[in-house]
Amino acid sequence: MSGLARIAGGVVAAGAATFGYSLWEAKQYTLRRFDVPVLPPGAEPLRVLHVSDLHIVAAQRDKLAWIADLARLEPDLVVNTGDTLSAADAVPTVLRAFEPLFAFPGCFVPGNNDYFAPQRKNPVRYLLPQRPPRFGPPLRWPDLAAAMTAAGWTDLTHARVVLPAGSGKVALAGTDDPHLFRARYAQIAGPADPDATVRIGVTHSPEPYLLRAFARDRYDLVLAGHTHGGQVRVPFGPAIVTNCGIDVRRARWLHQWDERMYFHICAGLGANPYLPIRFACRPEASLLTLVPRAG
Ligand SMILES: [Fe+2]
Repeated sequence: MSGLARIAGGVVAAGAATFGYSLWEAKQYTLRRFDVPVLPPGAEPLRVLHVSDLHIVAAQRDKLAWIADLARLEPDLVVNTGDTLSAADAVPTVLRAFEPLFAFPGCFVPGNNDYFAPQRKNPVRYLLPQRPPRFGPPLRWPDLAAAMTAAGWTDLTHARVVLPAGSGKVALAGTDDPHLFRARYAQIAGPADPDATVRIGVTHSPEPYLLRAFARDRYDLVLAGHTHGGQVRVPFGPAIVTNCGIDVRRARWLHQWDERMYFHICAGLGANPYLPIRFACRPEASLLTLVPRAG
């Protein structure tokens, strides 16, 4: 075998090994835990379970069981930041996975993939910075939203509410999906409830213009998803792309926006069903323990 053939064989073997690893990593469901100092002094901690980007198709038994098992955390509030669906027939499956979590107060917003089915894509296209959107067939988001509402969770699509959670009151405001240009912040604009224990903004995609708007209205925390943490990351380094306006170094987890407001981007539990890989980026949900601010 020539040197060139040996090198080519090595490249192919390394590519196959990396692809195999990425398929495996996409099923290593992980719970992250963060303390978020956004409560007033002396307030009791509040435990918020943040789930996002489940991308459920009917046959994902391990993922569905893992999601249902999150109920053992007994959160004070569950927040789902969208992209729950990935198939037209997935609504009953989602509801079965969420059923134990419906025992807790919850709220949700839609993501772009709740409206339209994902499409088979050239993976290289995902890495290109400007990708015009391509839409698959419409999904049954109205049915899922109605069912989650009937189960007791609050639809935050362009809504502001105050929910009791733990020993406090949480002021929540949410938008429709920014990625499909459906977010209309003006519909929820205005100072956040100063009498609530904490004020949380909820949106699918962490677009800086929305983070700025929530900060201006004095929200304490914004929860978003959409990025999948980059889904394919440089090991021990940043994401390669975020597929939205936030930068690659803040593609996942907890960050401070300004001296008052934090934001948390959940790296999500799923992937495009036609390319179910993740690399250096575990599929995950986060348990956020809100605690009093320092000083
Ligand atoms: Fe997603």
